[in-house]
Amino acid sequence: MDSSAWDTRYASTPGLVWSAEPNRFVVESVTGLTPGAALDLAAGEGRNAVWLAEQGWRVTAVDFSPVAVARGRELAAGRDVPVEWRVADVTAYRPVPGSYDLVLISYLHLPADDLAGVLAAARQALRPGGSLVVVGHDLANLTGGTGGPQDPAVLLTPEAVVDGLAGLHIRRAETARRPVPTTDGGTVDALDTVVVATRPAD
Ligand SMILES: C[S@@+](CC[C@H](N)C(=O)[O-])C[C@H]1O[C@@H](n2cnc3c(N)ncnc32)[C@H](O)[C@@H]1O
Repeated sequence: MDSSAWDTRYASTPGLVWSAEPNRFVVESVTGLTPGAALDLAAGEGRNAVWLAEQGWRVTAVDFSPVAVARGRELAAGRDVPVEWRVADVTAYRPVPGSYDLVLISYLHLPADDLAGVLAAARQALRPGGSLVVVGHDLANLTGGTGGPQDPAVLLTPEAVVDGLAGLHIRRAETARRPVPTTDGGTVDALDTVVVATRPAD
């Protein structure tokens, strides 16, 4: 989907498309890290960026949908936390190398070549000791999970993400279950790729 398709998707939903609460794997992965400079690539409406700012991180949030970024600004203002917002295409965005203690990529689904470029830029953006967290719908979700994109070409696997992270220390790489509420009050599991990696200290 291009930025105007994402704009249309966001604009056609009166409230938030995603929740105002952070993703559970983002919370798990970041809790315990010392807050510093964080970069949220494809930040959407800012649920994770705003939560990070609330934890004391200095957050730059990037998304190519102006409608999503406007909602992110509203969410941050409503929670009274500072977040620096940028409207940009993450396949072309080049963060300053070695300048972030945390880079987050949450539910960004791109063809493999584009994702490899984003992972390379994310990896280079890390300071020594900095962490990269990648979360997204897993390929196995097509057959064993629920929701998410149905095109296998844009789904993640832990192995494919790890392949793009040469030089980092992999702390977690797995397909994890995320309970999703159903209309009858139960839950069904979605399957997500979760990868957490650290740039070794120089
Ligand atoms: C499923 S949403 C996830 C948003 C957010 N990371 C979260 O977890 O709530 C995917 C987001 O990726 C953004 N996106 C997709 N391709 C992008 C690109 N090439 N550059 C910047 N943003 C992109 C979309 O605008 C959308 O906001």
